[in-house]
Amino acid sequence: MAKITNVGIMTSGGDAPGMNAAIRAVVRTALYHKLDVYGIRHGYQGMINGDIFKMQTTDVSNIIQRGGTILKTARSREFMTASGMKKAYDEICRHNIEALVLIGGDGTFRGADEFFGKYSVPAIGIPGTIDKDLSGTDFTIGFDTAVNTAMEAIDKIRDTAEAHDRLFIIEVMGRDAGYIALNSGIAGGAEDILIPEEVTDIEEVLSRIDSDELRKKTVHLIVVAEGDDFGGAKELQAAITERFPLLDVRSCILGHIQRGGSPTFADRVLASRLGHAAIRALIEGKTQMMAGIINNEIVFTPFSSVVKNTMPVNADMTEIIRVLSH
Ligand code: F6P
Repeated sequence: MAKITNVGIMTSGGDAPGMNAAIRAVVRTALYHKLDVYGIRHGYQGMINGDIFKMQTTDVSNIIQRGGTILKTARSREFMTASGMKKAYDEICRHNIEALVLIGGDGTFRGADEFFGKYSVPAIGIPGTIDKDLSGTDFTIGFDTAVNTAMEAIDKIRDTAEAHDRLFIIEVMGRDAGYIALNSGIAGGAEDILIPEEVTDIEEVLSRIDSDELRKKTVHLIVVAEGDDFGGAKELQAAITERFPLLDVRSCILGHIQRGGSPTFADRVLASRLGHAAIRALIEGKTQMMAGIINNEIVFTPFSSVVKNTMPVNADMTEIIRVLSH
């Protein structure tokens, strides 16, 4: 492979806290190795529109602690078409971009797998999504921050739930994945956690509330992932109120609050390691792979293998919820 001299970088899909730290690491590592770096704004859509600019080291000053992404992000429908991909390729060529670093989640790598299979531009991915729904990595950038945000919200809800002896349902993000629910729920001491990976048995959920009533437990917190098969907080609240009309039930949808905020140290360090590794990988001639972290080591996995983690939920976690909420 010819030596690369110009690298493009973009963020795509839902933003995640720590994406800025990853951009900083990519830009600074590339400049350290005497590569020119081009920022692509608004993900694949910006690639199509040619929204591309040359980046200097000062462009990434003072961003390591900031949520969001200075490169902006988008979910592009046009990129999913053959003509959109062709336009994107033409713009990359027009800017002499010879290799790319993509920061995003499953949608980003699904697009990348198709695009880079068709047009041979070397590309390395960095997992950036609060959902952690990718294989090839133990953690994704933004997950730790999002879980901490959800946990802090659950703690606050517990205070008011306890003051009123209320049952609270807290809906967290995760369209297809329950990692945020599972981890924030365990960390927040929830009585029940409902996730898309497991079929929800509503009778079981209701019987657990019933037995709590008998034991005079004053707080009952249920954390539900937005993508749970039974439904979200509203559906659950309706079912509980129908069965227990005298119970004081409230629900709270945390929503996009989980996507913002200053990244935790874990996300900043992960982003810095993966950003550094991505540029090193491109220099070494790797392509069409995502840099991930497994057992604290950097590993590379082909784009085609990382989309949609179908790994079953760790049985220990499910057991822990039952035992510790007893
Ligand atoms: O993929 C991350 C995520 O935050 C999901 O958990 C959520 O379902 C989705 O993005 C929300 O997307 P949007 O910001 O486009 O509404």
